[in-house]
Amino acid sequence: MTDLFGDKSAIVTGAGSGVGRATALRLAEKGARVVCADIDVDQAKQTVRLVEGHGGTAVAVGTDVSREDQVEGMIGAAVEQYGRLDILVNNVGIPTPRLGTLLEDHTAEEFHRLVSVNLGGVFFGCKHAVRQFKKQGTGGSIVNTASVAGIVAWGGSVYGATKGAVLQLTRALAIEGAPHDIRVNAICPSGMPATGFMAAGGMDPEASAAPEFAERVAAQHPLGRALTAEDCAEAILFLASDRARNITGVSVPVDGGYVAR
Ligand SMILES: NC(=O)c1ccc[n+]([C@@H]2O[C@H](COP(=O)([O-])OP(=O)(O)OC[C@H]3O[C@@H](n4cnc5c(N)ncnc54)[C@H](O)[C@@H]3O)[C@@H](O)[C@H]2O)c1
Repeated sequence: MTDLFGDKSAIVTGAGSGVGRATALRLAEKGARVVCADIDVDQAKQTVRLVEGHGGTAVAVGTDVSREDQVEGMIGAAVEQYGRLDILVNNVGIPTPRLGTLLEDHTAEEFHRLVSVNLGGVFFGCKHAVRQFKKQGTGGSIVNTASVAGIVAWGGSVYGATKGAVLQLTRALAIEGAPHDIRVNAICPSGMPATGFMAAGGMDPEASAAPEFAERVAAQHPLGRALTAEDCAEAILFLASDRARNITGVSVPVDGGYVAR
């Protein structure tokens, strides 16, 4: 079990917090060597220390996923460090600014930022990972973090549109990549308290970490449990691993039944 990933080389974007951090930790625990990429390199370094504290191997790389040159550099860093790339987890996502903002109240800058980080970041990651996978000639696995917001109306119209686009990109690239054994899948989390996401959307960080908030969120889900970053990491690990070798182009809701109602 510890060598589920052998010594595969993996990149996780947004690894400085929440789902990205949990995923980096689990991948490393299962044997992968991990590049922890984040725009906040200090947070990424903190994740590396946590990985190393558990006996794993990781390195931090400062990356703004909305910048193609930096994403190319991130892929290059994995190859330089570990000799190859096997897995890319495109996990970065930013929320609707001022959570609850209506479509007509988004500024043009806010619209462009959401699109360039949430969709552009996935596009650049996929583009340069696929080029690297094809160069290696031994396949590869990409997992994109989308959202239930890409399936139903949740979390804001522009944010949701970026996540819907990530799901379509996932399906289309899965078909392009299949002849090269490049698998592309996605997860769709629902509202997750206790990551940095709500605070990034302007919610008071203490309020977003409070048990009452988690209880309120849990009550919106059929299973009645608040979603955690670790729940998402488990689904990402499965999709990234060879256990899912015949699964591509799918999106897995990690949502306590939220979209099944
Ligand atoms: N938390 C939720 O309620 C929720 C719900 C559905 C989907 N998601 C999705 O899950 C993913 C992870 O979210 P999270 O809850 O762990 O959020 P988080 O805010 O805890 O973590 C996001 C990380 O991404 C980094 N980041 C932000 N912009 C970046 C950029 N341009 N380049 C590189 N790194 C950048 C941040 O520094 C942070 O470390 C996102 O794609 C998000 O859209 C979250």
